[in-house]
Amino acid sequence: MNKVNIAFCDDLAIITVDNPPVNALSQSVRAGLVDAIEKADGRRDVNAIVLVCAGRTFFAGSDIREFSKPPQAPYLPMVIERIEENEKPIVAAIHGTALGGGFEIALGCHYRVALSDAQVGFPEVTLGLLPGATGTQRLPRLIGVEHALDIMISGKPMDAVTAEAEGVIDQLIEDENLLDGAITFAHKVVAKSLGPRRVRDLTVEPIAFGFFDNYRKKIKRKTRGLISPEKIIRCVEASIGMPFDEAAAQERIFFNECKASSQSKALRHIFFAERVVAKVPGVSVEASQREVNRVAVIGAGTMGAGIAYSCLAAGLEVAMLDNENSGLERGRDAIAGFYEHDVSRSRIDDSNMVNGLARLETTQDYDAVADVDLVIEAVFENMAIKEEVFRKLDSVCRPGTILATNTSTLDIDRIAAATERREDVIGLHFFSPAHIMRLLEIVRGAKTADDVIATALALAKKLQKVGVVVGNCFGFVGNRMLYGYGRESQFLLLEGAPAEQIDGVLQEWGMAMGPHAVGDLAGLDVGYKVRQERTDLPDDPRFYRVGDLLVEAGRFGQKTGKGIYLYERGSRAPIPDSEVQAMIVREAKLLGVEQREIGAEEIIQRCIYALIIEGARILEEGVSPRSADIDVIWTNGYGFPRHRGGPMHYADEIGVQRVYEIVCEFRDRFGEVYWEVPKLLEELASNGGKFSEL
Ligand code: 3HC
Repeated sequence: MNKVNIAFCDDLAIITVDNPPVNALSQSVRAGLVDAIEKADGRRDVNAIVLVCAGRTFFAGSDIREFSKPPQAPYLPMVIERIEENEKPIVAAIHGTALGGGFEIALGCHYRVALSDAQVGFPEVTLGLLPGATGTQRLPRLIGVEHALDIMISGKPMDAVTAEAEGVIDQLIEDENLLDGAITFAHKVVAKSLGPRRVRDLTVEPIAFGFFDNYRKKIKRKTRGLISPEKIIRCVEASIGMPFDEAAAQERIFFNECKASSQSKALRHIFFAERVVAKVPGVSVEASQREVNRVAVIGAGTMGAGIAYSCLAAGLEVAMLDNENSGLERGRDAIAGFYEHDVSRSRIDDSNMVNGLARLETTQDYDAVADVDLVIEAVFENMAIKEEVFRKLDSVCRPGTILATNTSTLDIDRIAAATERREDVIGLHFFSPAHIMRLLEIVRGAKTADDVIATALALAKKLQKVGVVVGNCFGFVGNRMLYGYGRESQFLLLEGAPAEQIDGVLQEWGMAMGPHAVGDLAGLDVGYKVRQERTDLPDDPRFYRVGDLLVEAGRFGQKTGKGIYLYERGSRAPIPDSEVQAMIVREAKLLGVEQREIGAEEIIQRCIYALIIEGARILEEGVSPRSADIDVIWTNGYGFPRHRGGPMHYADEIGVQRVYEIVCEFRDRFGEVYWEVPKLLEELASNGGKFSEL
C-alpha cells in the first residue's frame, strides 16, 4: 500500500498519510505528499484539501534515522513551501502528536483542526537540533517570541486546548470523528471563500528592548553545555529583523550545523537507545505478562516511600509494610509530602492526591500482602535481613506473585535461593529519590522467568521510567561502574587535585554534579558500609582512603553538615574545607603519594575512561548485552551528560583506538590492578570496531 493516498469527496481532496508507526516524514512520504498536492491542485473539481494521517498520530516529525545519511530531495522546507503556496486552501487534521517537522507541516497548512487530546510541539532541542523547516519563523508569528522560545527551548509539547486558545489551532474537534470534523471545516472555508491563509504573511509582535539578553540569562543554567538553544534564539531574533525567506535560509544553515554536531549524534543515539532497551535479547516481547494491579512495598524508609509513591502515581494499589508503626507513619507522611509538592507545582490536582492516598494501605502484618501481584522489598541493604524477608514472603504470598528486591549491590540469586520460587524473583533497582529518578535497573537472576522480566519492563513504562535489564553481578551495571569512577576521583585527591577542582572539571565537562558533591549528597557512610562488607577489594592503603577517613571522623556528607565539603545550616551549597585539604596532604605524605598539579584533561580521562573499561568488561561478560543498555543507565541514573551519549558512545566518538592507547598509558603509569586492559577494548581497537556495533 502507498504511504500517501488521495481520495475525493464532494469538492474536497483528502490526502491520507500512512507510514507506521508514527508517520515520520521519510523521503517517500515527502515525495508522496508533493505528488498528491500537485494532483489535487490540478483537478478543477477540487476546491480545498484535507491532510490527515492514519494510525496513532499525525506526523511525529522528520525521520530521525535519515539524519545519519545524505539528505534526499524533496527536502522538508521545500514540501512545506509547496503546501503553503498552494492556491486551494489546505486544512491539517491533527490527532496524537504533531511534533517537529510534523508541527512545521501543520503550520505550513492554511488551517488547522485537532482532536482535543492532541499535542503539538518542537522536541528538536532534545535531539540537539532546532526546528529546521521554518518552525522557528512561524511559531513566533503565531504566539509571540517569548512563548515560542519557551516551547522550542524546553522541547515540551503544548496541548491542543491551549494551542486553540492561542490561535495555533483554528478549531477543536470534540464530538465527531476527526476526518468528518475536518471535512465540515473545509466545506465552511470553501463556502465562505476564505482562501489560503499563510503564517509567513503575519508579522512578529514587537518585544521589549533587552529581551533576548535576559532570556539568555534565564535559560543559562538549564542549557549548560548545549549548542542548539543559542541557535534557536538567534533564529527567533532573525524572525524579527529579517525577511521570512532570508531568516528561513539562516535557520537551515543552523539546522545543518546542529545535525552534523557530535552533540546531536549523541542525543539521537540516546533517543534510539532508550527504545532499544525495551527489547531484550532472548525474551520475547510477546511473552505473556503477569497482571499487576496491587503492589506491596516492604520497608517504609525513604526508598520504600519513593517507590510506593511512584506506584500510586501510576494508579496502582499499594500496601506498605514495615515492622515499626513509627516507620509506617513516617512513610505515609513522606508520601503525603510528595503529593502536596506535586499539587503545589500544579502537576496534579487535589482529587489526584485524595484518590492516590486512598489507594495506600499501611500494615505490619505479612498476611495483608498475601494476595498482591508484586512485592518490592526495600529494607536495609543486608543479605541476612533480605533473606529473612524473602523466606516470609515465600511462605505467605500466593503462587505467581512476583517477588522483587530493590537491592543495589547484593546477589539476586542468593536472595532468590531463600524461596522455593526462584523463577518469580527479580531485582528492581530504583534510584534515589525513587519517585523522581527515571532509571530502573531490572536485574535478572539465573532462574528469573521470561514473563517476569516482560512484566518488569511493562511496569517500568507504567511508572514512566526507563527499565534496563541487566545481569546479576556485584553492583549490577551502574554501581559496578561507579566504583572505578569513584576510585579515580579519590586517588586524584591524594595526588593533589582538590575536590572542588575535580568536581568543577567534571561538571564543566557535563556531569550533572561532580563525584565528591554526589558523595556528600548520597552519604559517604553508605559506600563505607558496602566497602566494609566486601572481601574482594584491592590490598591498597590508598584505596578510597580519603572517603574512609571522612566517615571515621563523623563527616557523612550533607546530612551531618560536613563531608568532603562544609554545608551551612539549611544549605546544600558545598563550601571547600581547608581542614579536609590539610588532612589529605598529611595522608598523602604518610602513604608516600607525591602531590602535583593535575590538569583538567587527566581528571576527565581518569574518571571517564575508568567507566569505559568497566563497561567493556560488563559487555565482555554479557552482564549487559549491548552498549546502548550501559549508555541508557548512565545518562538516566548517574547524571552522565546526554549530549555525550553515555560512556560507551563517548568512547566510540573519541575512537576506540585512542581510548585503548590512553588506557595502556594509564596501565603503565598507575598499575595493572586498576587499569588492566579489557580484551574487548583491545580487540575493537585492533580491528577498528566500535562498541555500538556489538
Ligand atoms: N523518526 C524515526 N523513528 C521514530 C521517530 C522519528 N521521528 N519517532 C519515533 N520513531 C520510532 C521509534 O524509534 C520507535 O521505533 P521502534 O518501534 O523500532 O523502537 C517507534 O517509532 C515508536 O516510538 P515510541 O516507542 O517512542 O512510541 P510512543 O508511542 O511511546 O511515542 C512519539 C510516540 C511521542 C511520537 C515519540 O516516538 C517521539 O517523541 N518521537 C520523536 C519526535 C521528535 O523528536 N520529532 C522531531 C524530529 S526532528 C525534526 O522533525 C526536524 C525538523 O524540524 C526538520
